[in-house]
Amino acid sequence: MNRTTEAITLAAIGDLHVTEDSRHRYRDLFAAISDEADVLALCGDLTNFGKIGEAEILAEDLRHCTIPMVGVLGNHDHECGAQEEIAKILQEAGLRMLGEQATVIEGIGFAGVKGFVGGFGRGELGPFGENAIKAFVDESREEARRLENALRSLRTERVVAVLHYAPVPDTVEGEPLEIYPFLGSSRLAHAIDRFDNVKAVVHGHAHRGTYRGATPGGVPVYNCARFVVEEAFGRQYALLEI
Ligand SMILES: [Fe+2]
Ligand SMILES: [Fe+2]
Repeated sequence: MNRTTEAITLAAIGDLHVTEDSRHRYRDLFAAISDEADVLALCGDLTNFGKIGEAEILAEDLRHCTIPMVGVLGNHDHECGAQEEIAKILQEAGLRMLGEQATVIEGIGFAGVKGFVGGFGRGELGPFGENAIKAFVDESREEARRLENALRSLRTERVVAVLHYAPVPDTVEGEPLEIYPFLGSSRLAHAIDRFDNVKAVVHGHAHRGTYRGATPGGVPVYNCARFVVEEAFGRQYALLEI
């Protein structure tokens, strides 16, 4: 175990949805975050349509962030099938993309995946019937498996999980009940609850959700979609002591 006791301030924001006409929209925000926090976590939907041009505009602004940055992509970043190129552009601007590879910053472990849909609790879709349903459920299981592997690779006392999709229904409350199954998957929470060193989970995606919830095992979950955080705090990023 890597023992460090000093708390760090984590800034987290999701759902930037950068468009091709939003040049420098987040430049001052990233500079402000750098003054207030030790690490920044980006929770996906960084671009609006998953376009290379959008990623390049965001990359320019990310260069104004002077603290370490970790992040995952969201479903919007996959829209044009250019997710690998987008990840590369953002990595070149200093963002550590999480996935199979976890990372450690200032003694805190960070593991993350995009996640996937599938539903929560008793409403979770199971792998029964048509092949298309099984493929859909496989994708949901695969993302949870990748998260679990990344978490297992960390030996730090404190770990933060970074997701795009929600791992619990608590933080999607406020969205229409009919779309809950498309906002996340309980499989992500089950993966997190297998470890006792996860201190917080940050995610995005549910723009009209609720800021705070918890996994069944009691790990705090924060919906850091910028719309949710702005509604709660009057600023676009969450600040957490880890
Ligand atoms: Fe979004
Ligand atoms: Fe999303």
